[in-house]
Amino acid sequence: MSTTSASRKILVTSALPYANGSIHMGHMVEYIQTDIWVRFQKMRGHQCIYVCADDAHGTPIMLRAQNEGITPEALVARIGEEHRADFAAFGIGFDNYHSTHSNENRELAETIYSRLKENGHIVSRTIEQAYDPEKEMFLPDRFVRGTCPKCGTDDQYGDNCEACGATYDPTDLLNPVSAVSGATPVRKKSEHLFFKLADFQDMLAGWTRAGHLQPEVSNKLDEWLNEELREWDISRDAPYFGFEIPDAPGKYFYVWLDAPVGYFASFKNLCDRSDHLDFDEYLKPGSDAELYHFIGKDIISFHALFWPAMLAGANMRTPTAIYAHGFLTINGQKMSKSRGTFINARHYLDHLDPEYLRYYFAAKLTSHIDDLDLNFDDFIARVNSDLVGKVVNIASRCAGFISKKCHGQLSVQCSEPGLYQHFVDAGETIATLYEGREFSHAMREIMALADLANQYIDEQKPWVLAKDEATAGQAQAVYSMGVNLFRVLMTYLKPVLPVMAKKAEAFLNIGALDWNSCTEPLANHLIKKFKPLMTRIEQEKIDAVLADAQKTLAAGAANKSASKPQKSTNMDPIADTIQYDDFAKIDLRIARIAKAEHVEGADKLLQLTLDLGDETRNVFAGIKSAYAPEDLEGKLTVMVANLAPRKMRFGLSEGMVLAAGPGGKDLWILEPGEGAQPGMRVK
Ligand code: MSP
Ligand code: ZN
Repeated sequence: MSTTSASRKILVTSALPYANGSIHMGHMVEYIQTDIWVRFQKMRGHQCIYVCADDAHGTPIMLRAQNEGITPEALVARIGEEHRADFAAFGIGFDNYHSTHSNENRELAETIYSRLKENGHIVSRTIEQAYDPEKEMFLPDRFVRGTCPKCGTDDQYGDNCEACGATYDPTDLLNPVSAVSGATPVRKKSEHLFFKLADFQDMLAGWTRAGHLQPEVSNKLDEWLNEELREWDISRDAPYFGFEIPDAPGKYFYVWLDAPVGYFASFKNLCDRSDHLDFDEYLKPGSDAELYHFIGKDIISFHALFWPAMLAGANMRTPTAIYAHGFLTINGQKMSKSRGTFINARHYLDHLDPEYLRYYFAAKLTSHIDDLDLNFDDFIARVNSDLVGKVVNIASRCAGFISKKCHGQLSVQCSEPGLYQHFVDAGETIATLYEGREFSHAMREIMALADLANQYIDEQKPWVLAKDEATAGQAQAVYSMGVNLFRVLMTYLKPVLPVMAKKAEAFLNIGALDWNSCTEPLANHLIKKFKPLMTRIEQEKIDAVLADAQKTLAAGAANKSASKPQKSTNMDPIADTIQYDDFAKIDLRIARIAKAEHVEGADKLLQLTLDLGDETRNVFAGIKSAYAPEDLEGKLTVMVANLAPRKMRFGLSEGMVLAAGPGGKDLWILEPGEGAQPGMRVK
């Protein structure tokens, strides 16, 4: 697609997050990637509309609502609010955020289904499935657990074995149990509706090779297309949270049938409220509007096979392209609850600037589906060195002189037109990279320009020129040049850093930057006083994010959603307790706080020397909010004495002290007396 063509009409979507859980760091890869692309398109002057919604339907959501004793509608409304708040905080600029449990979606899903039916693409047939006789419901594969028929490992999911990797039907499991009630499932027959995907075999073989997909995605899909496509089961029996199928009472559309329709429903909802957007103009067959779906690599078949086939079968337009991305790993490993790296968007937002993550992901994202890693050491180094050290540095080293010595006035003439032009010319290369989702490459180009700008200032030594009255004008010219180069850099970074760009626009005293607003440098222009645009990331903040993730892991065990039935077959939330054996492993002892000291560079931590009677331990404790060090010395506390030592930035922590209270100022440890002695075991 040409990046310079006249204004385009572009509709963009990100996958609809399930309404039964929180947004986590993995999700953010997708929403940040899409948002950057959309902001770029808008800056280029195109009409680009970004819609999304919550994916509200399905068994997990129904069961979670039941567990909480609320209606699925209430659950979906609550989670929807949470999702919106998280996305807004990360600067995700949806033009509309809707829900698949909406009238628009019901109408559109019914239309598509009835057209598929009229066109002969729906058949019905009776199948046999696992059924929970106690709960009186059919069980999705993930809700049946049992012993692997291949290797004999206990407690495996109904569709595959985590131990040996075998895949099978839930009815093949040995000693199966329902994860919903614990009952033994029985086999039961029921009539289901199927979409005849094979009717679209040729269409899909062509479509998947016609430039709508990344080459690696097309190749992957050959695994499906080299065989006859199987019929796709699109109905589920009651009880189910979804849309009842019009001509099949008691049967519901499978969540994945109406989920992608939700893209259109969200757009419809927006069009109905807008006076300039027309639904049909974008979505009628043959429309010249472009339609893009950004998705993760796990949901490719739904988007690149089922969805285009459904649309073609319903005589509707198909997507211009599907853009898949890889999965996020944290410190090189899959996000994991037990390792404490299952980080929710909120954990991050409570401690760190969202724009750090936007930049970091941009610096890692390509147009391919390789996984990307969030490595915290790299994260700190990248953001601090690129954004703070290179980009913000240009503005901060130039602004002082201009404000103090030139009353905020930039020079009349650009001192280095060749260098400025070089920055402007780089814009087309960078635009092409954004367009092609090569964000990582785009960031490298931008940082190379930032290096040039800093080099220029270093070479000109304006601080030397500034000392002499005779050369002060030259100093002003160099600093003005620096400010102008900063302005071009902020233009190129604006899709990634919308908040910082806004602050820069205020500092530069200019209107909203768009892609072409910097062809000429600012001359004889008044700028505002410089305020810090971004501060360095501190390790401590990362530690706090990880600590919060750990905490939620403990608390979250209690409201573990029904979506992923865990080992315990009891769905009662309080069933997630620890066993006596777990408790017995914890060695709790009384410790005397022999010494308490401030830790340089830490706002929350104190360094404690703990006397356990026969040994001393060094522990870093987050109790600075409640106690001054001098108040702690001589007091007693309960400590976990057998916690594995943990290396922290400030040193090795050899245990954990326990305090009571909600936190902040309200934290209490023990007073001496009552016979407690250092080293005593706590029972
Ligand atoms: N509800 C479906 C999508 C329906 S679209 C019509 C779904 N929801 S999800 O909440 O599980 O995932 C939403 C998006 O986030 C998906 O594109 C998924 O690939 C992406 N990611 C979820 N975990 C991810 C990572 N760990 N890393 C990167 N992307 C991840 O799927
Ligand atoms: Zn197995």
